[in-house]
Amino acid sequence: MKSSLSFPHKTQPNAAPESVPLAVPLLDLRRQYDGLRADVLAAIARVCDSQSFILGPEVEALEREIAALTGAACAVGCASGTEALWLALVAAGVKPGDSVITTPFSFFASASAIVRAGATPVFVDVDPGTLNLDATLVGRRLRDRQAAPTQPANVRAILPVHLYGQCADMDRFDRIAQEFEVAIVEDAAQAIGAEWSGRGAGSLGITAAFSFYPTKNLSAYGDAGIVTTSCPQMAEHMRQLRNHGSPRRYYHHEFGWNGRMDAIQAAVLRVKLGHIADWNQSRQQHAATYDRLFAESWLTSRQASDQASGQTSSQTSDKSCAPVRLLSRSPQAKHVFHQYVIRAQRRDELRQFLADRKIGSEIYYPLPLHLQPAFSYLGLKAGDLPVAEQAAREVLALPMFPELTEAEIQWVVESIADFYS
Ligand SMILES: Cc1ncc(COP(=O)(O)O)c(C=O)c1O
Repeated sequence: MKSSLSFPHKTQPNAAPESVPLAVPLLDLRRQYDGLRADVLAAIARVCDSQSFILGPEVEALEREIAALTGAACAVGCASGTEALWLALVAAGVKPGDSVITTPFSFFASASAIVRAGATPVFVDVDPGTLNLDATLVGRRLRDRQAAPTQPANVRAILPVHLYGQCADMDRFDRIAQEFEVAIVEDAAQAIGAEWSGRGAGSLGITAAFSFYPTKNLSAYGDAGIVTTSCPQMAEHMRQLRNHGSPRRYYHHEFGWNGRMDAIQAAVLRVKLGHIADWNQSRQQHAATYDRLFAESWLTSRQASDQASGQTSSQTSDKSCAPVRLLSRSPQAKHVFHQYVIRAQRRDELRQFLADRKIGSEIYYPLPLHLQPAFSYLGLKAGDLPVAEQAAREVLALPMFPELTEAEIQWVVESIADFYS
């Protein structure tokens, strides 16, 4: 397939580019740091001067600010996104012997936190367009359970993941939650600032977990996470759980853990929080640039690009052989593009080609959770969740971070076009 992109640095087809970026990283945190250095170092110095290193005023201020951003009433800072998921599940009432329905196409922690809460993950396949947990299949699974009540047992919660920064279909999960009386616990680790029908990720379920791992849209200088909820009692329960189940020092009502947040992480996050709206907007602009360049290159099907721009296509020609396909975007979702992910034919060869040009890319995720050796005890096998398995063979995340330049995006798309030409 020939690229119809016109790149100013190319004088003629197949000519060596006149000036192209030497390398395009998948993520470059140094560019962000360069702009924030003085503020970040001042915030760290503030904590050092206070000599208050764990929880305390910085964490409490961050909790108020994150609650305000997400629209949830309360937030509870903790040690990581994984810890946040565990707190969110336990506060939502998940206990040993329960089952929690979740996606097989996520980071391991989405499901391992369920196991740590003593429950069993029930993997249901993903939507082929968005790769988020498929609400129709979840509803079907719960209806089937009514016919055979032991399978799966005691479904207490559904844990949708807002994959790559786009909310799962929360309208349908809300309806399912009401019909079957189960809790919705959001894995919003990748979705700070995202929205569904104007409501913030983190305020859509009974509880929600965020990660501030250094690669996330809002990132700490180490591990950190936060849980949000609109229920003050649950927030209080989580505050105790993150601190050894202790309502007051040296008195323990239940078994919690040390899941506390460091004050230095909170102070750094508070500096960055002031920029998150602009950063997410930059990510959206970069995604629009990728979309446009892919559409111009004809690497993607017309149908996929129409979907990406929110239009419905009347095109009937079969574009399924297009080398690159974009994921679909839900009209209700404000997507914050934690990742910009394509589905690519000959994905691994393409990835190597890009690496040879020093263009970063990553596969989120190469092996679905139901096929991970750690979950072999569930008895699932290849072919059981075919949409997730196909996605694992095709997805490729391209460079995406706020400071990325248009020239870099052009070079990435042109390189992909060169690979397929
Ligand atoms: C979807 C998802 N859930 C949970 C986590 C766990 O977060 P953390 O690494 O902060 O423990 C991550 C982080 O990679 C994630 O992407």
